[in-house]
Amino acid sequence: MTRKRVLSGIQPTHDSFHLGNYLGALKQWVDLQEEHDAFYCVVDLHALTIETEPALLRKRILASAAQLLALGVDPDKCTLFLQSHVPAHNQLGWIMECLAGFGEASRMTQFKDKSQKTGTDRTVVGLFTYPMLQAADILLYQADLVPVGEDQRQHIELTRDLAGRFNSRYGQAFQLPDAYILKSGAKINDLQEPTSKMSKSANSMQGVIELMDTPEINVKKIKSAMTDTGREVVFDEKEKPGISNLLTIHSALSGKKISDIEKEYEGKGYGDFKAGVAEVVVEVLRPIRQRALELLEDETYLLKILTGGALKARAVAEKTMANAYQNLGLVQ
Ligand code: TYM
Repeated sequence: MTRKRVLSGIQPTHDSFHLGNYLGALKQWVDLQEEHDAFYCVVDLHALTIETEPALLRKRILASAAQLLALGVDPDKCTLFLQSHVPAHNQLGWIMECLAGFGEASRMTQFKDKSQKTGTDRTVVGLFTYPMLQAADILLYQADLVPVGEDQRQHIELTRDLAGRFNSRYGQAFQLPDAYILKSGAKINDLQEPTSKMSKSANSMQGVIELMDTPEINVKKIKSAMTDTGREVVFDEKEKPGISNLLTIHSALSGKKISDIEKEYEGKGYGDFKAGVAEVVVEVLRPIRQRALELLEDETYLLKILTGGALKARAVAEKTMANAYQNLGLVQ
């Protein structure tokens, strides 16, 4: 039986990934590589929608690869590569732009949120066409599953629509992918603003747990997390968004059921609970950070992994691309 194909990507826009990235997506990347044919990429071209100093971008791309390897993405079990190493992403991205409607693209909530923040005059066109490049990332590899957090659901829906449209107009060329989104952990919230998602572009980093932060900093952030009125540790997203977010984090990292964690802290206060959450978080993140720092010392090794990944990715992507061009009527 052939293994199902998985593809996912992450932007190298910051020095560190955060706990939302890890629990919403990256942990599933590691799990899925065991029994699937997985392709994972650092979407460095998507990161160009944010202006970054070239030396810093280069550093962040390598730091992204190092973090992925450190948290368990294994190049012997999956294909890890950089998006810019596979030119077919841009080629298919253009085809997707020619299939997508202007209105359809305008309805993407991530675009609306981001462009509202920056204002239209300072929003680049690449931010608007971003979801079509993402569709290309996925469709080139004929992915069955796309492990992502809840915030990417709409982009995967668009990808399915575009793939279906292409297939019915020009003949079968693409597998229709399904989003792989867990029930719990798909939206980790900011520790200081527990009703908003944890995000790399938050105004303050106080509520964002970063993989590359020291354990001391992360413990401090968790201990000063915003909590709710009352003193019982119970899951109630409406009345207790802060405690519920911490319970979700604890459960996803410790593997314990939320109801069992509630029992463990019955009669104890928020202080004890936060100390417990901090312990669980640090236990998981400490070795990841350590390993990532070690890997960053060996750029030659990182480049070797990425070059090997690019070769494997190109072979798959070019085949899809040639087929798509043929279906479109482009002379081969
Ligand atoms: P990015 O780089 O913003 O985030 C990477 C992954 O982390 C998830 N995520 C979260 N999950 C739970 N809680 C949170 N607070 C949280 N914040 C982020 C995201 O859902 C994502 O899975 N457009 C994508 C990158 C991309 C991509 C692709 C993904 C480009 N091409 C192809 C999948 C397939 C993005 O900006 O993710």
